[in-house]
Amino acid sequence: MKLLTVTDIRELVHIIGLEKFFDRIVLALEEDFGRWHEFNLSPRHATHYPHGVIELMPCSDNSLYAFKYVNGHPGNTLKDKLSVIAVGQLSEVEAGYPLMICDMTLLTAFRTAATGVLAARYLARHDAASLAIIGTGAQAEFQAIGFSRFFGLNSIRFYDCDSRAMAKFSANLKRQRWALMPCRSIIEAVSRADIVITATAAKKRQSLFEIGDIAAGTHIHAMGGDCPGKTEFSENLLRQVKLVVEYMPQSLQEGEAQQVGPGQVHAELWELIAGKKAGRENAEEITLFDSVGFALEDYSILRVVYELASVYRLGTELSMLPEPEDPKNLFGLLDF
Ligand SMILES: NC(=O)c1ccc[n+]([C@@H]2O[C@H](COP(=O)([O-])OP(=O)(O)OC[C@H]3O[C@@H](n4cnc5c(N)ncnc54)[C@H](O)[C@@H]3O)[C@@H](O)[C@H]2O)c1
Repeated sequence: MKLLTVTDIRELVHIIGLEKFFDRIVLALEEDFGRWHEFNLSPRHATHYPHGVIELMPCSDNSLYAFKYVNGHPGNTLKDKLSVIAVGQLSEVEAGYPLMICDMTLLTAFRTAATGVLAARYLARHDAASLAIIGTGAQAEFQAIGFSRFFGLNSIRFYDCDSRAMAKFSANLKRQRWALMPCRSIIEAVSRADIVITATAAKKRQSLFEIGDIAAGTHIHAMGGDCPGKTEFSENLLRQVKLVVEYMPQSLQEGEAQQVGPGQVHAELWELIAGKKAGRENAEEITLFDSVGFALEDYSILRVVYELASVYRLGTELSMLPEPEDPKNLFGLLDF
């Protein structure tokens, strides 16, 4: 069984290249969302605490089984800890043996951005050139780089209530070609954007902006609201947008959709990819992808990373599991 640490993931991204790694994940997501009915799907198992959530996210097809352990603790950064930290496992289904255990903290940021990009390809205007990001914490740069792969961005406006998070975002992206425009308010950031990404962490109901604050034709990638009672938009805004979710049974509990119910949801993402429902239909409509993070996305990135780690011989082979000569003689391993 292979162990992949965060150092191995970092090395892998350096070998493949940041942009090409994104492309690979978007492609894998499109393939896997495109064969939606081949998967065993279920909402994640979430255990809620007053200050955060801990979740288990399983997903499998007939050859691979994946699951991720992930948290969401918005107050963690005040204690110099990440808000979101994750570990995943991939197993083969034939005998049920684990193949890989892997840090998934970076991978969660990559796959969340890649899923947002995939949705935006169906929901945003193809000529979208200006991006706004509200909340420039751990996820933000991944979003900016991911969206720049598929849209001809020339500017990114951004706002965070923490000025240090804004300075960090600018510093990390200073070598990119787009104009980076720090804003003094959410409204200043979103009012002239073609695509708006909301990635705030706050365990409460927020209303970051209203429908009148954005231009016709805007696409919103709403990824910060992902738990019961943790949302970023008002019911009023949600009733005026084309709302697309990942997986209805989970999104109705955890997403912005929890506020408006299934009647307001236009489609699940796979339906756009399969051509069963329309994506954007004109240049004027306002679309919103209600991203909460779904286990299929972790399955996709784990299978890609396992394949690449094998090709580039990354990670450490662990002899962690028992290998008795006689599989019925487990007790014999104790040597008593
Ligand atoms: N949908 C998904 O698949 C997915 C995946 C990963 C993370 N998330 C969620 O995305 C959010 C961001 O994650 P992160 O790892 O970047 O967290 P983070 O704590 O590193 O960053 C969040 C940022 O939001 C800012 N913020 C909070 N409230 C704000 C407000 N009202 N206006 C402006 N800025 C505000 C904070 O100052 C902070 O800098 C979290 O809520 C997390 O749970 C969702």
